[in-house]
Amino acid sequence: MPAQKIIFSGIQPSGRLNIGNYIGAISQWVEMQKNYNCIFSVVDYHAITVKQDPEELRKRIIEVTKIYLAAGIDPEKSVIFQQSAIPAHTELAWIFNCYGTHIADLNKMTQFKDKSGKNQESVSVGLYDYPVLMAADILLYDTDIVPVGEDQVQHVELARDIARRFNNEFGETFKIPQSVIRKEGARIMSLLDPAKKMSKSDVNQNNCLALLDAPEVARKKIMRAVTDSGSEISYDLKNKPALANLLTIYAQLGNREIKRLVKDNSGRGYGDFKKDLADVVVKFLEDFQKKYNKISDNDVKTILENGRQRAEEIAQVKLEQVRKLIGVR
Ligand code: AMP
Ligand code: TRP
Repeated sequence: MPAQKIIFSGIQPSGRLNIGNYIGAISQWVEMQKNYNCIFSVVDYHAITVKQDPEELRKRIIEVTKIYLAAGIDPEKSVIFQQSAIPAHTELAWIFNCYGTHIADLNKMTQFKDKSGKNQESVSVGLYDYPVLMAADILLYDTDIVPVGEDQVQHVELARDIARRFNNEFGETFKIPQSVIRKEGARIMSLLDPAKKMSKSDVNQNNCLALLDAPEVARKKIMRAVTDSGSEISYDLKNKPALANLLTIYAQLGNREIKRLVKDNSGRGYGDFKKDLADVVVKFLEDFQKKYNKISDNDVKTILENGRQRAEEIAQVKLEQVRKLIGVR
């Protein structure tokens, strides 16, 4: 029997995780646990590429882990660990800075351009170098598949390039990973502006449905979400992007097919549709938060420590191999 494929992914403990993170990333991971060997990281060294309050960061690390667990990541099946607990990640990132990564690669990264905006000269070097750390995360574990939202695909491409260049220079060392995105829901858009991604770092949280929003707050956000001109419920990304986004959220959280939803809502108005959607979201959040609230900080500590041990064993072997290849051992 061929060995099971390896999945690696992670989310930064910054901002308030929202249903975009859930639909685009975490819910995919939950499904993949059945058929693959999965490793999921809380990537705290990625979070510090922008300023974080230390107290807040400590809290968010626990919060993100609880969100993984409440969403259905099973620590018996999958490895869950905190990135900074395994120094091999940053060490390999440094090695990749010197072997495999060109300045031109990083200059192309659209996320860096978006995040740095007009301040490209004054943001941290870490923000610029962030995709290299991500490549180290992925390549340390012989990862086959990286399930992410659409915005991360370019970073996974870089990991592939780095792996190929390293392999060309030193012989087969790293597996070439592949990104996987959802067919529907890989890019959940903001509730108030369907041209913009729903983002956990958005200053206006009315754009987002956070996983830990009080359900009644979430209901209000849905009722206030923008819709498009016209009145008919149809899935039309180009002409009705706001509605298409709401239909996608409904389908993903309510476990329904978009086609069916459109059919069942024919002749109904946006207002009625939004009321139903709000009910679906409220139910989803209530169930999710019930599970979340049952998990203690102590459970989280034990699970992260256990995950660290399992992940570090794998990471150390790969790193030692790399150290030898480049001549420092
Ligand atoms: P981030 O919030 O940028 O740390 O992203 C964490 C994970 O969630 C990544 O896999 C992203 O691609 C995914 N993600 C973030 N925002 C969205 C969104 N609006 N729609 C779909 N996936 C998303
Ligand atoms: N950069 C990713 C994000 O912002 C998070 C991340 C870090 C990641 N390392 C990773 C995702 C490795 C997948 C695999 O969403």
